Amino acid sequence: MSDRSFVLTRRRLLTGAAGVAGVAAAPNLLGERIFAPAIAQNAPLKVGLMLPYSGTYAKLGQFIDDGFKLYVEQKGGKLGGRDIVFVQVDDESKPEAATDNMNRLVGREKADVVIGTVHSGVAMAMVKVARDTKTLMIIPNAGANDATGPACAPNIFRTSFSNWQSTYPMGKVMADAGIKTVATITWRYTAGAEMIGAFAENFIKNGGKVVEDLTVPFPEVEFQALITRIATLKPDAVFSFFAGGGAVKFVKDYAAAGLNKTIPLYGAGFLTDGTIAAQGEAANGIKTTLHYADNLDNPANLAFLKAFKAKTSNDGDIYAVQGYDAAALLDIGLASVGGDAAAKDKMIAAMGAAKIDSPRGPLSFNKAHNPIQNIYLREVKNGRNELVKIAQEAVDDPARGCKMT
Ligand code: BEZ
Repeated sequence: MSDRSFVLTRRRLLTGAAGVAGVAAAPNLLGERIFAPAIAQNAPLKVGLMLPYSGTYAKLGQFIDDGFKLYVEQKGGKLGGRDIVFVQVDDESKPEAATDNMNRLVGREKADVVIGTVHSGVAMAMVKVARDTKTLMIIPNAGANDATGPACAPNIFRTSFSNWQSTYPMGKVMADAGIKTVATITWRYTAGAEMIGAFAENFIKNGGKVVEDLTVPFPEVEFQALITRIATLKPDAVFSFFAGGGAVKFVKDYAAAGLNKTIPLYGAGFLTDGTIAAQGEAANGIKTTLHYADNLDNPANLAFLKAFKAKTSNDGDIYAVQGYDAAALLDIGLASVGGDAAAKDKMIAAMGAAKIDSPRGPLSFNKAHNPIQNIYLREVKNGRNELVKIAQEAVDDPARGCKMT
């Protein structure tokens, strides 16, 4: 869309320039061209939500959506003083459809900002389009390291985590607990490989040994053969990454095989976040690391959980928090430019410098626009992911390969 448009009168400039930002020039009655700022921020800002609303990650997508919209509602339907409208796309967690879906949002739908997504493979396809089109994008979950690594860009932010960040601290936690041997199990795709890789990096550094890496294709949930293999290997513990519907099934299958009594199950926090109610007793005692715990006793978390419950009748979880914080970050950016999203450089600078009082605790951003945040050790007790301790404070992803241009 052009940054310049010709208008005849100041009145038309104010009311008729919806979606047009920057400077407008119009011939006056004397035939001179007069330059005046177009008030694009009168038009609502179009936010594209590209999330999984179906499939194994459907609940994650819905909670991100609910968290984002809760924040917007709390601000009277505006961010940075600008009205917000939404356009939604169900990405189904399918990387093969991701480029078309993203092109549709930024092309045909003309979304000003895109919020998405959950699945690392889908997110990387979105990042490519966002880089090419310079569309502002906020990732409210997907942890693909490359998004804030070699593919980093000024217009790309993340309010969630990098895959490295969420599990690296667990390597030391488990080694410090005297665990010597571990079998790992996950889905065979970017998130699984990177979370297991980061855990193993730190576990081995601290004297541990990974005896076998077990995988199933995403989003399959046929775990029986691998659970039998774990029983044969008899490691001191198991470390895993699954999320959503797949995590529910894995935790139940693990307990049904009786392994939860003999080989303790650890994981990235996604194993038990947003899934505990469906997992029931099978989840008891599972220890995970994540940038959130249900009982974080800070005013921001208490207020968030109350408001989320009132809006949705559901208990908030990390996905809802990440969606909520994506809206908070956009709010900060838009407020810095009086709602004029065309002033991208200024907006991006404000977002990069943001310090958010998040329900998860203090949240700021590194030079690659990835969160700097505490990673907590949690244990499932009383149907909740209860805080055990801070596993590592203010964890900052190394942003390997990121060169901001
Ligand atoms: C990912 O694909 O990056 C991901 C999906 C669900 C939970 C956490 C990470």
